[in-house]
Amino acid sequence: MSEPLRVGIAGLGTVGASVIRLLERQAGALAARAGRAIVVTAVSARDRSRERGVDTAGLAWYDDPVALARSEKIDLFVELIGGDEGPARASVEAALTAGKSVVTANKALLAKHGMALARLAESNHVALAFEASVAGGIPIVKTLREGLAGNSIERVYGILNGTCNYMLSRMELEGLSFEACLADAQKLGYAEADPTFDIGGFDTAHKLAILTSLAFGTAVDAEAVHVEGIESITLADLKSADELGYRIKLLGVAQRTAQGIEQRVHPTMVAKSSAIAQVMGVTNAVTIDADAVKELTLVGPGAGGEATASAVVADIADIAKGIRSAPFGLPVASLEAAARIPVQRHEGGYYIRLAVHDRPGAAAAIVTRMAERQISLESIMQRNPPAKRGAASADKPVPVVLITYATSEANIREALEAIVTDGYIAERPQVIRIERE
Ligand code: HSE
Repeated sequence: MSEPLRVGIAGLGTVGASVIRLLERQAGALAARAGRAIVVTAVSARDRSRERGVDTAGLAWYDDPVALARSEKIDLFVELIGGDEGPARASVEAALTAGKSVVTANKALLAKHGMALARLAESNHVALAFEASVAGGIPIVKTLREGLAGNSIERVYGILNGTCNYMLSRMELEGLSFEACLADAQKLGYAEADPTFDIGGFDTAHKLAILTSLAFGTAVDAEAVHVEGIESITLADLKSADELGYRIKLLGVAQRTAQGIEQRVHPTMVAKSSAIAQVMGVTNAVTIDADAVKELTLVGPGAGGEATASAVVADIADIAKGIRSAPFGLPVASLEAAARIPVQRHEGGYYIRLAVHDRPGAAAAIVTRMAERQISLESIMQRNPPAKRGAASADKPVPVVLITYATSEANIREALEAIVTDGYIAERPQVIRIERE
């Protein structure tokens, strides 16, 4: 057997403690596969006295993660601190500069500085591995970078944020409020320290930017992702979606188009019969459309200590074996610039919910405005509350739900502007894009 691989871990939260436990539990099997033992020799965390359920007594302790990153006591640095600047960035840069490979779960750091860090890893001939940064325990990075090397990928889309999927599932199935579901997600430890990263779609956008680079050979560019969160989704939308044969999911979608790779994150209507619609709760899923495999869906735990630790340990094992892949599948200089495509150019079907004043001519005006922009309607649903049936009243708006066939987002926006100007609408229209299988 070769010399043991000495691992230093910065950040001893749920994931860090789980990594230590998993490395201990699988020590024999990992050593046999890698041809060398993997041992944690040093750690860094803010609070030395906190009870973590792991024995850190025999480990070198560093208060400063940058000092750990440079320490002679480690060969490999594992960053589990989080955040796109501060100690996370400084310690990863310090480790790579010192010629040590890095394993990180930090999607925000990679989304913002992924290219610069990959360049630093390249120039120092070390690995930068980040399987845990996207979809927790699902080995999606390796799948895209190595497993599908023989494919040309057309589209990658997925449920990449467990918190949002948990909230939408409970709102749909139990009729619970947005606030109650968010509070439970936080209690269960799914949400980010700042939950606006989850519900605002930014966590999904960070993960999508990483997947896009791996799938399409483009530079990571989080600014190229159009981002909308789930804050506007109501129980009425979830109910209408159900009645129309859809579910609402927060999806990250990267798709090859004539203009380049479109990247977008938004609440999305997916057919109830699709694989992605079956994914409920904190579970994540990624579907890949590619020429050789056709359609592939990976489903698994997207958050949580053990699941995320599973991905971190897989990266550590690769590095122990001497595997050093280009972090994003290609040398950084060969990655193409990502296209920044305005979402107005998106083409697809739309769900539109309008609160319409119940007056003669209202429905006619709405469909006229749609027809003027060549928008074809797949269905129209008006459900007046039972008490109102047979007694039209212009004061109380009624919900009207439209489903369109594929059209451009620019057309939809123009038509809605005209409908609002016509004065039949009591609230801002709700618009949700439909993603076809
Ligand atoms: N807050 C994230 C989620 C954790 O809910 O999926 C995993 O990145």
